[in-house]
Amino acid sequence: MTPWTLDSWRNHEAKQQPAYPDAALLSAQEARLRAYPPLVFAGEARRLKAALAEVAEGRAIVLQGGDCAESFQDFTANIIRDTFRVLLQMAVVLTFGSSMPVVKIGRMAGQFAKPRSSDNETKDGVTLPSYRGDIVNGPEFTPEARIPDPARMEFGYFQSAGTLNLLRAFASGGYADLHEVHRWNLGFVARSPLADRYQDLAHRIDETLRFMAACGINSASVPQIRETDFYTSHEALLLPYEQALTRIDSLTNDPYACSAHFLWIGDRTRQPDGAHVEFLRGVKNPLGMKVGPTTTTDDLLRICDTLNPANEPGRLTLIARMGAEKVEKLLPPLLRAVQKAGRKVVWLCDPMHGNTITATSGYKTRNFDAILTEVRRFFDAHAAEGSWAGGVHVEMTGQPVTECTGGAHQLTDADLARRYETFVDPRLNAEQSLELAFLVAEELKRRRAPIQARAAE
Ligand code: PEP
Ligand code: CO
Repeated sequence: MTPWTLDSWRNHEAKQQPAYPDAALLSAQEARLRAYPPLVFAGEARRLKAALAEVAEGRAIVLQGGDCAESFQDFTANIIRDTFRVLLQMAVVLTFGSSMPVVKIGRMAGQFAKPRSSDNETKDGVTLPSYRGDIVNGPEFTPEARIPDPARMEFGYFQSAGTLNLLRAFASGGYADLHEVHRWNLGFVARSPLADRYQDLAHRIDETLRFMAACGINSASVPQIRETDFYTSHEALLLPYEQALTRIDSLTNDPYACSAHFLWIGDRTRQPDGAHVEFLRGVKNPLGMKVGPTTTTDDLLRICDTLNPANEPGRLTLIARMGAEKVEKLLPPLLRAVQKAGRKVVWLCDPMHGNTITATSGYKTRNFDAILTEVRRFFDAHAAEGSWAGGVHVEMTGQPVTECTGGAHQLTDADLARRYETFVDPRLNAEQSLELAFLVAEELKRRRAPIQARAAE
């Protein structure tokens, strides 16, 4: 392998990159970003890697979630707060269900660039470049909006900084207090048409918190009750941006991508010889890679070697997104190959991207039952192979949107038009997200029961 440098990716084929019309403008923008402060500190990325190493060893689980694509227009405190709050609510439920720490990672503060199936979009005989996310061009179907504009990278940087600042304030400033989060969950249960089903778990969490409080474990005495660790992540798609925000850590002298704590490679850009794999192999952050239906065992093992040559637990997370109908057939051979090769990875289930369909109304949607089915089958496949199911990766929002069908409120195709707000993929709304967490927690508890029974014998 040739030596890695900050721009060695430029000698490899880079898929899904915008065709910027003005190269001089692009380099000027890259130079500005290179001079700006990093958004995260390398030490934080190392801390996340250590937390993910615990997941790789089967002692913790991951919850990763957020928008398919953040948008410049939705840059408000309420939207950030609501997504953060639902992620915390989900995490509490999953912590209780698994009796394990939950590593919380938002698809937030930088999830702007999107891969597209086609470079162009045609409407009524007019063909324009596809929308590639707000950090590249605008979603409006006009020639002006669709021209890739490097200045958008700077706006993306500042929006990420503003979002991250608020997330840090929430995580450590008292908003994330366990008792508050639990109270919000009680509100969710009370509102749910399936309240009976979720009440039991909520009551048990309630009892546990009261017991802890009686023992003197409360927000004032224990920081873990009032604070939380929350990390950011996005798809490392737009390589000029990622390169410009990569810094040499002054403590270790290692390069870190400082646009987020965790970066992943998408299903469309994971070619073993491609530019994205080349770029990410050189930064020391914890990394993810999407594993889709066309992933071969050979490619998977090769990429594991390239991205994680030292087989360091926590370095590499494989995010399977097969689809509910394919996961039972396609996942087990990959789990087996990784296990046989002794590769220490985290496996997550992304039950969203393999379950996208077009409704008769024309909207792109996903059905709640398909999503839940994929998660269950993912857990089953791991149980059968004796490998650790490390958690879930979901597209969700804290807003009451109507983008995915199903769930306790039984959204139908006819409901989609009411609040369909995503610019790219359909997200679970707040209630659907919580419901998924409750159902996954039940699964985790059920699967844990036999292990505990054996331990007690
Ligand atoms: C995504 O996570 O939004 C995405 C594009 O996923 P994938 O690369 O798995 O298609
Ligand atoms: Co998506």
